[in-house]
Amino acid sequence: MSLGVRFGLFLAALSCVYLVSGVDRNNFKTCEQSSFCRRCRKVEPGKTPYKLLNTVEVRETDLSGELFNQDTGVAYILRLTGLADNTYRVWINEKNPLHPRFEATFALQSDPVPKKIKLIEQTAEYIVVGTDHTKAKLFFNPFRIDFYRGEQLVLSANARGLMRFEHIRTKPEPKPEGEEGEKPAETNPEFPGDGADSDPGAWEENFKSHHDSKPYGPEAVALDFSFIGAENVYGVPEHAGSFALKSTKKSDPYRLYNLDVFEYEIDDFMSLYGAIPVVFGHGKESGTSGVYWQNAAETWVDITSSADNNVVESIVNFVSGSAKKPQVDAHFISESGLIDAFFMLGPSPLDAFRQYTRLTGSAPLPQMFSLGYHQCRWNYNDQDDVRQVAENFDKYDLPMDVMWLDIEYTDGKKYFTWDTRKFSQPLEMVHNLTEKGRKLVVIIDPHIKRDQNYFLHNDATNLGYYVKHRDGKDYEGWCWPGATSYIDMFDPKVRQYYIEQYNLDKFTGTTNDVYIWNDMNEPSVFNGPEVTMPKDLIHYENWEHRDIHNINGMMFTSATHEALFRRSGGSLRPFVLTRSFFAGSQRYGAMWTGDNTGEWNHLRISYPMCLSLAVSGFSFCGADIGGFFKNPDNELFIRWNQAAAWLPFMRQHSHIETKRREPWVFGDNTLGIVRETLKRRYAYLPLWYTLFREHEISGIPVIRPIWAHYPTESAAFTIDDEILVGDSLLVRPVLEPGLTEVSVYFPGEGKITWYNIDTMQPYKQPGAVSVPVTMERIPVYQRSGSIVPKKNRSRRSTVAMKNDPYTLMVIADDDGSATGTLYIDDESSFEYRHGKYLYIRFTLTGYKLTSNFMDKLATYDTKSWLERIDIANPPKNIKSAQLTSKTLGIVELEAKYNTRNNVLTVRKPGVNMGEEWSIELIH
Ligand SMILES: *[C@@H]1O[C@H](CO)[C@@H](O)[C@H](O)[C@H]1NC(C)=O
Ligand SMILES: *[C@@H]1O[C@H](CO)[C@@H](O)[C@H](O)[C@H]1NC(C)=O
Repeated sequence: MSLGVRFGLFLAALSCVYLVSGVDRNNFKTCEQSSFCRRCRKVEPGKTPYKLLNTVEVRETDLSGELFNQDTGVAYILRLTGLADNTYRVWINEKNPLHPRFEATFALQSDPVPKKIKLIEQTAEYIVVGTDHTKAKLFFNPFRIDFYRGEQLVLSANARGLMRFEHIRTKPEPKPEGEEGEKPAETNPEFPGDGADSDPGAWEENFKSHHDSKPYGPEAVALDFSFIGAENVYGVPEHAGSFALKSTKKSDPYRLYNLDVFEYEIDDFMSLYGAIPVVFGHGKESGTSGVYWQNAAETWVDITSSADNNVVESIVNFVSGSAKKPQVDAHFISESGLIDAFFMLGPSPLDAFRQYTRLTGSAPLPQMFSLGYHQCRWNYNDQDDVRQVAENFDKYDLPMDVMWLDIEYTDGKKYFTWDTRKFSQPLEMVHNLTEKGRKLVVIIDPHIKRDQNYFLHNDATNLGYYVKHRDGKDYEGWCWPGATSYIDMFDPKVRQYYIEQYNLDKFTGTTNDVYIWNDMNEPSVFNGPEVTMPKDLIHYENWEHRDIHNINGMMFTSATHEALFRRSGGSLRPFVLTRSFFAGSQRYGAMWTGDNTGEWNHLRISYPMCLSLAVSGFSFCGADIGGFFKNPDNELFIRWNQAAAWLPFMRQHSHIETKRREPWVFGDNTLGIVRETLKRRYAYLPLWYTLFREHEISGIPVIRPIWAHYPTESAAFTIDDEILVGDSLLVRPVLEPGLTEVSVYFPGEGKITWYNIDTMQPYKQPGAVSVPVTMERIPVYQRSGSIVPKKNRSRRSTVAMKNDPYTLMVIADDDGSATGTLYIDDESSFEYRHGKYLYIRFTLTGYKLTSNFMDKLATYDTKSWLERIDIANPPKNIKSAQLTSKTLGIVELEAKYNTRNNVLTVRKPGVNMGEEWSIELIH
């Protein structure tokens, strides 16, 4: 939820202005209104003042040297480090800074694994270091770094010369009376200076009624990155825009500054709740590479593309000869911090995505329940409401795993308390849910009500746990409870205290089946500048809020995650949903796209938003079904459910003033369609769960853009209304009203056939094909050559499905082969980390289908067995089948063709999934 709601109510009381539609852009800064962005964007290309002194040293895994700014005379330390998996890190700081600069290393899962580099070549102009596969060429003057994969130049830093690193300086003294202007501080008269001092916003800045005291003055850092051969770039979420980033030639740069944007609109460039400063370039010839800009301060990213008419100045002649390569440049601009950039050289899309998650981590395997369907609303009024809604899911035969409670469950918005009038028996309510195999999620926000009768406020005040003003006083803002303060999660003592609040004896009314939703953690401050905290507030160890803003939300969810882990004695996998996030947040839970609107364009944008998150390490993404604001009509509601069933996180949520929208309120026809949609979601949970486990192991995204697997199909580079789930399913939701057909892009250049999962109708023709659609379902296809595990029993929740048998959907390719994987464990604990799991590979070759354990040492005692095998494009003239397994021996099975769709079904193999087996198709 966001400010505007409250603000809207407030306005409604004053006048009749209510729900003014759309975002109020005046509440948010433009680049021009932000002095550091303005200064850095003004840097002229091709005139970099930075030179690298040729006294560089190469040792083991590092190259270190000194950079010199010829405009200011300031010296910098540069360190380039070779890292495992085709990755380099470039770290630059002032040689003698007046005070330390913040480093956002919380984002890293651990220290990156270094890799030995060697000196390859050194001349008067440059030095080349690298490994057998990749190298970095550093030019001395003007300073620039080119990265090569083999002999192919793929990435370059400072090629356009837009680097800027504003050294920390002392404030200029005002000149004595009579003289004009201010006396520049400490400027060496030999040097012209960097011009920052003459910027009126350099030492203090106002935005609307807010004053930023900026005691440290200008300290921005910026650098440009050129993706050589890339046709498009992707990443830098969160923005409500297209997956392929757009040129910012005629707009503001993409902004990364975590904000609670009320009624956000579809806008490619405006900030939203989260920030992941990673960008990937991809081209048909060049492959994929990426840059991760590790900086937690406010950041802007300009994108320029060779496609927009020579915008990319030919400063550097990268290509000899006349063949002009495509190129896209990303120019990162941050308000403070230092330069800490990681270069991931691919070559394939999945390589580059993995290289990023090797740095910031992959998501740990979630509990199965969290992949089920979630039912939320602001608010389920009381415990009877919760009970009735849950009962109705049973009554209407709808699977559902989790009921959610928004802020109204608390006593006056005091978190860790209950409104005991509405929720007099929370434990019984939870028990009633868990008895049916369901869970509860409750919200805990970071703002603390300033109420002398609230233990948390008293503790935080007495122990000094709040974020402070420069003068040491506790900062006070305005949020849901009214006057609020914010505990400082950067302080280990505060984290410890916060974590303890989740202990079951402290947070009464909860059990280990109650999980947590962290909202408003940008943080949202209704009366703060841009609806967040003033930048000159002080956190632990004297860091300004300016330095840490974008990682603030992650500090909160990482603590919540740890709290849930400890609460269960380390036995249950935590589930935390967050609105705000940063690089690395994927390690702590799921995210959703915040306060969207019940309109078609918001449904449409949920796909590119989640794709963008997925390639940026954060797969566990979803959008509020039906839109948080406004009321969807039946058609939009149906289409939204159908689309959401194929995104990793599936939750319905809505604003307090919207109409009820549980599936049964839309009438029987809609209810029936949504029922089938939810059942289909549940049927494919074995696939989702396997993909999440494979993500945990390999770091590759759960949902993927088409070009992740078809990297040379240029026509797919900008497709973002169609996704791959793993590598076997192709999903094309219906995102506009009234459609009877949609255009589906079938990748594979004719070498792959795609089978509609409902009809098993094959599509062989590659490229864009118009296919008919009905209201009942959206087009989903399974790839030839794949095997997808499913469960096909109707149950109320995932817990009830746990021991259900499996169905395998096999689609033979033209050679009669197919493969697929299935991961099984207890679906909730960490026992899988001690070898208690099954990871199975299924292989069809000709007439034989086998099941083999990929990890022979792992075991898991499952009750699930194999119920049925469907084989599309099957071998001909099969009369029966024969199963061989250790415990069952040889078993004759029935095998029958369905002449309607040419699917061969092998019924009731009956073998337990915990043993290896093979099935011979007898002809
Ligand atoms: C729990 O379930 C029982 C049986 O349906 C019901 O009578 C009771 O009111 C429920 N309690 C709560 C707190 O929802
Ligand atoms: C799933 O079960 C239903 C009902 O038993 C059946 O009609 C359908 O064919 C099954 N689908 C698959 C793929 O097994």
